Amino acid sequence: MELVEFKSINWNKHIVLLKQAQELGFVGASDVNRHLESSFLFYQCIKRFGGEGGINTLMDIGSGGGIPGLVIAKLLKHTKILLIESSKKRSSYLNSSISYLGLSSSVSVFAGSVQTYKSKFAETRFNVGTARLFGSLPASLECLAPLIADKGTVIISAHGSDEIIKNRSFDYALSELGVDFVEKTKFQNHWFWIFKKVHEADKKYPRTKREIKTDPLFEIVRNIE
Ligand SMILES: C[S@@+](CC[C@H](N)C(=O)[O-])C[C@H]1O[C@@H](n2cnc3c(N)ncnc32)[C@H](O)[C@@H]1O
Repeated sequence: MELVEFKSINWNKHIVLLKQAQELGFVGASDVNRHLESSFLFYQCIKRFGGEGGINTLMDIGSGGGIPGLVIAKLLKHTKILLIESSKKRSSYLNSSISYLGLSSSVSVFAGSVQTYKSKFAETRFNVGTARLFGSLPASLECLAPLIADKGTVIISAHGSDEIIKNRSFDYALSELGVDFVEKTKFQNHWFWIFKKVHEADKKYPRTKREIKTDPLFEIVRNIE
C-alpha cells in the first residue's frame, strides 16, 4: 500500500479520537494527519521487515492515545494486537477507543507497565513489537525485545537520528536482548530502527524503569535534526 491509498481510506473515526486524545494530552499537538502518516510508516516497516517471523501477533508498548497501534489495527485486520500502557487514564481511553472503532475482536489492552506484563506472562511472545516515542532507543529496545518471538521484528521510532556508538556496549546489548540490528531507515522525517529476534533474551530483561534510565544497555549520541 502506498501513501495515496492510505490517505484514501476513511479515517474519520480515528481523527475524532485523535482530536479527543490531543485535548486530553495523550497525543502530541501536531496535525492529526501527521500522526496517521507516522502510523502508516510503521505499517510499511511491518510489511517490509515482518515477513520471516509472520505478523499474527503484535504488541505496541506505551500506546498512549493509540498511535500507532489503533491505526495499524485497521490495516492489519487479521493480526491480534496488544496495546501495553501503564497510565490508567490512557489505558481506559484505549479501551473505549477500541469499542468505538469496532476493533474488540482483534485488539486488547494491558493496563500496566511492560515490566509487569513480562512478569505476569513470562512465556508469551509476539511476532512484531512496536514503540513510538516510548523513551530512548535503548529503553525501547530493552522493553520490547524480550517479548518478541524467534525471527520476530522490533520496530522503534524515536526522535532524531540517534547515532549508536558502535562499541562493545551495543554488541553486548544485542546479545543480551537476543536481537540483530537490521537497519536504521528514514521515512519522510521519521527514523525507524529495525531489529530481528535471533535468540531468547536474558530473563532479567526488561529491568525496572529506574535501572534502564541510570544504567542503559548501550550509549547513543543524540543528534536531533
Ligand atoms: C510519549 S507517550 C507516546 C504515546 C504514543 N506511542 C504516541 O506516539 O503518541 C509514551 C507512553 O508510554 C507510556 N509508558 C511509559 N513507560 C511505560 C512502561 N514501562 N510500560 C508501558 N507504558 C509506559 C506512558 O504512559 C505514555 O502513554
